[in-house]
Amino acid sequence: MENVKVAFLGFGNVGTGAYKIINQNNDEIKRSEAVRLEVSKILVRDINKKRALDVGDSVLTDKIEEIVNDPEISIVAEFIGGVDPAKDYVLSCLKSKKSVVTANKELIAKHGQELQKVAMDNGVGLYYEASVAGGIPVIKILLESLQANRIKGIMGIINGTTNYILTKMSEEGRDFEDVLAEAQRLGIAEPDPTSDIEGFDAVYKLSILSSIAFHKRVNVDCIYREGITKITVDDINYGKELGFVLKLLAIAKKQDNTIEVRVHPTFIPQDHPLAAVRSSFNAIFLKGDAVGDIMLYGRGAGDLPTGSAVVSDIISACHRKSNHKYVNFFNDEQDSKDANYNNDWESEFFIRLTVKDKPGVLAKIAGSFGKYGVSIASVIQKDRGKESAPLIFVTHAAKELSLKKAISDIKNQDDVLKVENIICVEH
Ligand code: HSE
Repeated sequence: MENVKVAFLGFGNVGTGAYKIINQNNDEIKRSEAVRLEVSKILVRDINKKRALDVGDSVLTDKIEEIVNDPEISIVAEFIGGVDPAKDYVLSCLKSKKSVVTANKELIAKHGQELQKVAMDNGVGLYYEASVAGGIPVIKILLESLQANRIKGIMGIINGTTNYILTKMSEEGRDFEDVLAEAQRLGIAEPDPTSDIEGFDAVYKLSILSSIAFHKRVNVDCIYREGITKITVDDINYGKELGFVLKLLAIAKKQDNTIEVRVHPTFIPQDHPLAAVRSSFNAIFLKGDAVGDIMLYGRGAGDLPTGSAVVSDIISACHRKSNHKYVNFFNDEQDSKDANYNNDWESEFFIRLTVKDKPGVLAKIAGSFGKYGVSIASVIQKDRGKESAPLIFVTHAAKELSLKKAISDIKNQDDVLKVENIICVEH
């Protein structure tokens, strides 16, 4: 039986979850995996702080050197989050020939390639299953179960906070701000919710997933991003009348050498499998050329679900010893080294306008769509007010740039009081 000494960097929610799992399931892990995990050091900012879990005073340290320079520690799990100082600490551990397991999506999305190179040079592993979709083992599935496929597409709900907010807005008719405040009280949303509600969190995760899936480093800056802060209950309700559910989707498609990557609110049909993913759950659709469609569903956050992914990576690192698995980014001989990004994607669009309620307005707006080759699939007008009326259009598939031109034309019409929202529709 191999005894493996592990160190933790940070001891917040996920670190505590991983610690609990190791404690609770160590006998089971010993029996099935033939390794005994021992958390021998935990780096914390304040060793005197009172903690919910008693790990023993000798385990806590506030000096990274005590971990980096300890030759008995072979695996380090990083839970600090963000880039500074996590990146420096991870680099020091890799250079000291320790495999690193991390839940840090920003670090991997921005610096994963550099860190992997250092890991390779030092013959150790870099594992980051927990960085995407918490407990859902999507990275292992991409790396170890779908290698035979060319992955053509990813479509997922990979941010639980926004899915919780959109679900509540849709099911209870409550405003964004109201539900966000509730999510913060419940600890579902962070005190500073920007990364989640503005789509940054999903962008980091999509960068990691699409880089692995497409064997191309998909830079965070190449991903189109739009959060959910402009979504209103009116948008959601009008969408419902048209048979749609609203989700913040992360979408990646690859055709030949062209990659399309985007995170934005999206209407999907009510009978789409992702439409049934409610509350803070995550789900990811993968499309492989051989396997077809696969959908993974589960908890995208939380101490034990994310801890489950971390401990699984620790066990993988134990087994692989010096034979770690790395991602090849440029291994497709038919492709050039650089990917092309498609910034003029095709989608159907939902457009909600407030217009003057008088004859001829609809015809003029339809004319602007026609002028730029945007075909209208349906239109509804509801709740006629005194002088204004909401007009909702759904287009057939149209290019994003053509749609933008049509909208800019429509905005200039005197009878159009406001372009309230434009939301992609996917099937
Ligand atoms: N904040 C993330 C979410 C979980 O809401 O899904 C951690 O990645």
